[in-house]
Amino acid sequence: MSKHHRLPATVSALAADGPHTDAAEGTLAGDVMRGLSALPKQLSSKYFYDAQGSRLFERIMRLPAYYPTRVEARLLRRHARALLAALTPTGAPMELLELGSGDGRKTLALCREWLKAGASLSYRPMDISAQALERLGQRATRQLPALSVHPLCGDYFQTWPLPQARRHQVALFLGSNLGNFTDAEANRFLRRVRAHLRPGDSLMLGLDLRKDPSTVLAAYDDPEGVTAAFNLNLLRRLNRELGMDFDLAAFRHYASYCPLQGVARSFLVSLRAQSVHSRVLGQSFGFEPGEVIYTEQSQKYERAGVEAMASQCGFALHAWFEDPELPYALVVCRAKA
Ligand code: AVJ
Repeated sequence: MSKHHRLPATVSALAADGPHTDAAEGTLAGDVMRGLSALPKQLSSKYFYDAQGSRLFERIMRLPAYYPTRVEARLLRRHARALLAALTPTGAPMELLELGSGDGRKTLALCREWLKAGASLSYRPMDISAQALERLGQRATRQLPALSVHPLCGDYFQTWPLPQARRHQVALFLGSNLGNFTDAEANRFLRRVRAHLRPGDSLMLGLDLRKDPSTVLAAYDDPEGVTAAFNLNLLRRLNRELGMDFDLAAFRHYASYCPLQGVARSFLVSLRAQSVHSRVLGQSFGFEPGEVIYTEQSQKYERAGVEAMASQCGFALHAWFEDPELPYALVVCRAKA
């Protein structure tokens, strides 16, 4: 039996009654409470990345069907020198701030090229995973001892370092991670990035572009079932962290791609009528047969849209490097005055 009925009442009751629950936005308990009470049901893709989810994502990046990682790495290799020139036109020393660096493999390869080209450079990887930053630090010491690396653990906008005089800040947001945001969220995010930069500082985005819809869909629905396992792992996480009783065999991964909007979406489909309970939330959630939980969106961009979005958020598009075979772009933007 559920003790809460309507959503607004639920959220305030929850905040008031349980010392072990917290309905605040941006917490797992609060977001799940809201998301599973909404119609359609939804869960944020940011919760995919527990230890197991991060391992599954590493496997996704090696899947033949998942092209974005390989295409981006190829672009970074191919255009390393041109990127350096586009990002630091004055040749001033640069502070490279990477938002969501993970273990930083791709970026360290880029830094190696830039050091070879004589760049003066320090690297500040930012990530919420202390473990990923730890591995990054070890990798950097081993492979590139000449590079100065200062990892920052936590929320990007809280840990953002103050600019140093005569150092050009370059923010990096790769992997088409921006695509997980709705347009409104992406706008807000880019404006916050802009607010931390000075005019003339740079931002580089890695963005997946529109292409053959079948190619996109295949990337989110691999025959090996790794993306399905990645999606379903979210339910395993809720079972563990919120004392839930999701039967993973009673949900199936479903991926779609809408070529009109350029959005890939992932869902978890309830295969039967069922009720799922959370001990931590003190709440049950009913599912109809075929009802979905919307778990992720991955936006595929086109150039005009990116230019407009950048401009609205205080950036001017400065350079665009695109893969000729599989449309994907490295986009260099300059903070406007
Ligand atoms: C890490 C957000 C870029 O949306 O393509 C991969 C995550 N989800 N397969 C993406 C993901 C399913 C990925 N991003």
